Formats: sequence, C-alpha cells, structure tokens
Amino acid sequence: MKLGVCYYPEHWPESVWADDARRMRELGISVVRVGEFAWSRLEPARDNFSFDWLKRALDVLHAEGLEVVLGTPTATPPKWLIDEHPSILAIDENSNPRGFGSRRHYCFSSVIYRQECQRIVEKVVCEFGQHPAVTTWQTDNEYGCHSTIVSYSADALTAFQAWCERRYKTIDKLNVDWGNVFWSMEYTDFNQIPLPMLAVTELNPAHRLAFWRFSSDQVASFNKLQADIIRQHSPDRDVMHNFMGNFTEFDHYDTSKELDIAAWDNYPLGFLDRDGIDLEDQKKWFRTGHPDSSAFHHDLYRGMGRLWIIEQQPGPVNWAPHNPAPLPGMVRLWAIEAMAHDAELMSWFRWRQMPAAQEQMHTGLLLPDGTEDEAVAEIRQLSEDLKKLAAFDTSSTKSEVALVFDYSGDQMLRIQPQGQNFAPLEWVQNIYTSVRRSGADIDIVQPGDALAGYKLVILANSLSISEPLLAELTSFEGHVLVGPRCGSKTDEYSIPPEMPPASLQTLIPVKVSRVESLPDFCNVATADGFNAIRWREKITGSVEPVSTFTDGWGFYYCHDRCHYLNACLDDVSLLKFMQARLQQSGVATCACKEGVRIRRRGELIFAFNYGPNAVELDPSKSYLVGNATLGVAGVSVWHE
Ligand code: GAL
Repeated sequence: MKLGVCYYPEHWPESVWADDARRMRELGISVVRVGEFAWSRLEPARDNFSFDWLKRALDVLHAEGLEVVLGTPTATPPKWLIDEHPSILAIDENSNPRGFGSRRHYCFSSVIYRQECQRIVEKVVCEFGQHPAVTTWQTDNEYGCHSTIVSYSADALTAFQAWCERRYKTIDKLNVDWGNVFWSMEYTDFNQIPLPMLAVTELNPAHRLAFWRFSSDQVASFNKLQADIIRQHSPDRDVMHNFMGNFTEFDHYDTSKELDIAAWDNYPLGFLDRDGIDLEDQKKWFRTGHPDSSAFHHDLYRGMGRLWIIEQQPGPVNWAPHNPAPLPGMVRLWAIEAMAHDAELMSWFRWRQMPAAQEQMHTGLLLPDGTEDEAVAEIRQLSEDLKKLAAFDTSSTKSEVALVFDYSGDQMLRIQPQGQNFAPLEWVQNIYTSVRRSGADIDIVQPGDALAGYKLVILANSLSISEPLLAELTSFEGHVLVGPRCGSKTDEYSIPPEMPPASLQTLIPVKVSRVESLPDFCNVATADGFNAIRWREKITGSVEPVSTFTDGWGFYYCHDRCHYLNACLDDVSLLKFMQARLQQSGVATCACKEGVRIRRRGELIFAFNYGPNAVELDPSKSYLVGNATLGVAGVSVWHE
C-alpha cells in the first residue's frame, strides 16, 4: 500500500512548494492529488488559459519522485461561467436554482455544462496528459456530495422524458408499469410526464424510482464523457473517481464501469455523528468511528475496481455536527485496516490546514503555519509497520461469505419505507457487522456477479430479483440467506404477481401474506429468545417455521440450503442468528469482542481494536506488527 496526500499548490505561495514536496517524500508519501477544484486558476476568464503554474507545481512534485493524481476541475464551475450560462445551476425541488458560492452547483443534465466540461477536460488532459508525474486522473470530485445528484431543471425534464421513452417504448406500457390508472395519473404522451416534484401528497413510487434511475444514469454518462476524453488523450493512465461513505444516491456499479480505480473518501468520525447512527453507538465509537464503517466501504468499493482511499480523516474535520479528535493511534489503525481490506493507496486529506474559507477548521497533516500536526507521528510509525509487512504475500483473499448489495433495492426501501424507523443502509450494515463480529470476512458483490465458491450468500436489500441474480442463486451450491423484504417488488415497483419473495420461491416455497412495521417502543420476541424490531412478516406456504413469536407468527424458515429471515432483529439476536447460519454453512468463525475485528489478506492476519480495553490474543503466534496484547486503538498482524 502506498501513502498519499491531497495538496492544493494554488492555495500556497510558490516559494513553499519545493519544501512541501521534500517533506512529503521524507514522510514516506509517494502519491499527491492536485487540481480538482482549480478551474478559476486554470481558466480565469473564457479561453484565457493559465496552465504554467500547474506545470511548475507538477515539475516540483516530479523532482521529488512523487506521482500525481490530477483532478478534472468540473466540481467547481467558476463565476464567469455561471454568469454566462446561469442554466448550468442545478434546480432544487422547489424550483429554485442552487446558488454560486460553494461547489457542486451544476446540473448533471445541463447540455451546456456537458459541453463546457468536455472543453475544459480536453484542454487540461491534452496539456498534462503526458506529464511524467501524472499517473492517474480523478474525474470531478465526489459525485453527489451536498445532495447534488438530482436537479429539476428544464434540461433534466427533457432528458427524463426521452429516457422514459427509451425505457418504456410506448406510453401505454409506462402507464401500466407505473399503475397510473390509480388517481387518474395516466399520460397520453411522453412529453406530458413531469419531474416528480411539488405534488400535493406522496408521489407515485414508480415515478420516483424511474427518476432515480434516470438521475443515476446521468452521473454514469457524465463520468463516461470525462473518462473517454482521458483515455483518448492520456492513454496508459488510470481513471479514478472518489466515492463517498454512507451514500447510495446513485448506482455506483454503473459509474464504476468506466473507472480503473474505485476510490473513496473516509471520514470515520464525521460519518458517525452525521449519519443518524444510534446514540448508544455514537457514545461508544465517538473517537474511533464505528468498527465496521470503514471496513464495510472498503469491501463495497473493492468490488468495483482497484481500491484506493484518496481522502482520509487525519484529525478533527469541520462538517459534522460535532468534530472530535480521534483517539491516538486511530490514524495508523485506519490505514493498516485499509491495507488489510486490499487498499493500494492510503491518502490523507489534506497536506496543510487552510487558514481561510469554508474548511479552515479542518485539520491536515500540517498546521496552517507549516508545523507538523499530530497525525504525522502516526504516519511515521505506519511507514515502519508497512516495511515489516512488505515481504509477505498480500494477494487478495476470496472470502467465504458474499453479501449482495443492491443500489436500486436500497432506493426502493427509501421511497416507501413503510415505517419511518426502517433505515435501509443501517440494516445492511447491521448484517455486515453480525458476520464480522463472528470473525468471518465478507466480499460485497453486485447482483448477478458469479457466486460459485462462496459458502454463504446473503441477500439483504435485493427488493427486485433480476434474472441474472436468480440464475446465479439457482446454480449456487452453498447456503443462501434471504432477508426480509427481498423479492417484495417488481423491477417497476409493484407487488409481484406471485407475491413476495417472488422468484425466490423457487429456492424456498414461502409466501409473505402480511407485513408490519414496528415503532421503536415495540419489540416482539420469539419463544427461543430472538427479538424482532422495526419489521416483521407473516409467512404462509408449505414450510414450517423453525420457531414462533409469542403471538403465534412464525419465525425463520429453512428449506434445503435456503434460509428466509422474516424480521429485522436487534443486534444481539442478529449476531446469534448469524453465527448459527455461518456454522451451518461451514464458514470458519471465531467470536470477536465487541470492538475487535479480524481480517485476512494473503498470508497475513490482522486484528484491530476499536474497543475501550486492551484484549489478549493468542500468545503462541509470532507477531510481525504489535503483539499478543492488542491495546486500545491497537493493531496486531501475524503470519498465517
Ligand atoms: C470531502 C471533499 C473534500 C473536502 C473534504 C473535507 O467530502 O471531497 O474536498 O471537502 O470532504 O472533509
């Protein structure tokens, strides 16, 4: 794993660049990302390009042997461009333009903006595409950050109507698929279809799903536009985009088809406080981040390309409701954990804290005055650790468990949660946690990916079962665990004719005849001590339940190697349930203490301690990093 940093030469006097580059190299950094917000400096006025400063910056970095990841500047269209073409601005759901003054203010559907992106990206790529320092391109920056996937502009409306026509072919089919006879919502022409906004009450879920799919496709085609230009004018360089954490507002699988590297930006403490995590969990993991948050995303994104962490939290950030400092040791732990999950690069955001503008309270590796901040000492130790591990085989290890993650399923759950406490991503992550706490590794796979070789496959949010997924499941020889709500919708968001779980009935003959959502004050227990929260399903069919709830509803159904879990469970019950399924499937398990996680890569085994107390590991192993006492925020690594 290489080390990197995000650097903004345009923020600092040219006189410090050479010293910065030298200090980066001395710290063990070999990759530097630059340029992703620099449009106003690259083109201060239309067609008045100013590339010399960036060329000098790249030369300075190159002179120290540093590789450069160059960002296209399209996340920040400058003021002159917005003044020339105000229609570039995204439109919010109340029909108001989103203003200039921060970033990501563009509409993905703006025809003019796509032309402008093509123009600037071509210019920048032609100028720097052969520079010896540049090894990788980053397209734009964090698609969707600040709720910017969706725009209700005139261009979006035209493009959405055309998208509907391509998908449904005839307006009658669209009306039938969406159920538009309900409330007289039928259309007679594609040009009548509005964007799903400003309705009096709930919009048709099929209309919303179609608009989500359309918006997601706009991101993929926007990314492809840039990737194509890069591949044409800067061949032999990799194309990368930086995805985000806890973010599902577009289908990342589609966008990543045009990437070599699926990078993501990891802010473990920021996510914990921002993303509606349970208060008890926030208290526990306040200075470490949730023990599965980083790992979940590493496993998700490594299924989409080579894995990079291009932005990593080095200290307090500025954008969460509260911004605590990480526990000493966490900067090193997060880095080694990324490596254990196959990351090729760990890069921190940012080199030096910027004393002005929006992110002046966001720490970097250096303080604004250039002295070292606290993360640097941990990075020095990390460099020593990595040297000790460099001699070992760390080829990627296929896990025994696969979790199918479905972006459109996640969206379907958000559109009609049917219970306001049903948290779609949290439920998937709870399942992930229950497997990880059982000591097993997980691969996160796309619906339709090959499943042969796994021992257990879990469907957690596959609301609509595609034919490729069903074909894989049908020929699969291991165990399949189907979670609640899987198979409960058609691809066009209605209840399937054969009733849920639809085509999964070929694996297990159960039929969901009633569902209920439960408020937080209501848990329902089974005779054998499982506790259902938030969601429960009543099952009919020929399969007898394995146990029953106290009010007589059945709980958990099993047929051959297929298991149907018909309720969401609290953490304790879910862990117990999952351990039993893992054992039944022949997956190797070992119970992990609450804050401890194990991960295997190649010949190495890694242990991480997110918990509040030191933990004793097997004293008979010979440790390469750390030792048998796994301290707080500690890492131990041993050889298989
Ligand atoms: C990311 C973004 C960076 C910076 C960082 C601060 O979301 O890509 O540009 O804003 O957050 O934590």
